[in-house]
Amino acid sequence: MATADPFSEPFGTLFGDQITVAHGGPTGYTYSGAAQPLDDLSLHPGMHALHYGSTCFEGLKAHKQADGSVAIFRLDDHIARFRNSIGLLRLPVPDADLLRTMFMDAAVANVQHTPPQPGSLYLRPTILGADQNIGAAAAPSQTSLLYVLTSPVGDYFAGGIRPLSLLVETETPRTTPQFGSIKSGANYVMALGPTLEAKANHGVDQVLFATGGDTTETGAANFFMVDDNRLITRNLDDSFLHGVTRASIITMAADLGYTIEERSVPASEIMERTADTEMFLSGTAAVIAPVGSLISDGVTTQVRDGQPGPNTLKLRQALVDVQSGVAADPHGWRTIVG
Ligand SMILES: Cc1ncc(COP(=O)(O)O)c(C=O)c1O
Repeated sequence: MATADPFSEPFGTLFGDQITVAHGGPTGYTYSGAAQPLDDLSLHPGMHALHYGSTCFEGLKAHKQADGSVAIFRLDDHIARFRNSIGLLRLPVPDADLLRTMFMDAAVANVQHTPPQPGSLYLRPTILGADQNIGAAAAPSQTSLLYVLTSPVGDYFAGGIRPLSLLVETETPRTTPQFGSIKSGANYVMALGPTLEAKANHGVDQVLFATGGDTTETGAANFFMVDDNRLITRNLDDSFLHGVTRASIITMAADLGYTIEERSVPASEIMERTADTEMFLSGTAAVIAPVGSLISDGVTTQVRDGQPGPNTLKLRQALVDVQSGVAADPHGWRTIVG
């Protein structure tokens, strides 16, 4: 299974050969207590998730450490976000302890597939509403199927960090305001249309959603501006995903002495700052990805000199060093696998 080289295969196309699975119901969850071989799932065609979208997932990474061990980055924060997503989909919410056990069992069972830095073992916990009922459009699923899949992944930026181009989209939203903070597949498929159009019509990498001028995030990453003194990003609300990488960057930047501004970020302000402010995206997959240019109202504007800026690279290195065990872990973000 995971024998191919994750550095030469596309992100997310290789899988660890063990998976953890549990079944939820009104009285709680049943977990076999151990990982099992990865195999196809048998799903009833009338399953709630397949018709009414009662499904969501998480995405987190286990990193090889400088001392040879493997550690999951911010395990408990991902568990908390997963539980929040599950609750908002009105599915039975598993205890944090069960999730911790299932995440850890999946990581332990596949730990030998963890590639060296900058690769990692990506964990993809997933839940599906499992009621067999196609008449339950307006009712929650009482039962669920929960599993933790793993995927050895290489460097998101094969061949080095490449500054991204973004289209600033002020009309079509990424998703609905009440669903933005849920890591639900529906959000990603909703963002697909505007993203494919932007790629075809403008040749950009991603869309930066700024509905009505209110900048939030791209299809799969949060957005930041930074200069030598200040880090600026949108304040949290339900309209976009509360990135764990975002939270980590804010904490580390504050530790490094930056002033943090979590507030509304008007699209007009972004365009006014392109000459002198660095911009980047953050996420578990891409870590920190510099933004090199923006297209707004049909006009392309380079961000500074179009290259990754020094503050962006400094924050990226600080984050990678904590994730990979090169730096100290003052906030207790690493959980050793095993
Ligand atoms: C829509 C969206 N926003 C932001 C992020 C960044 O979140 P995190 O840093 O937790 O990976 C992701 C990535 O998972 C995402 O899919």
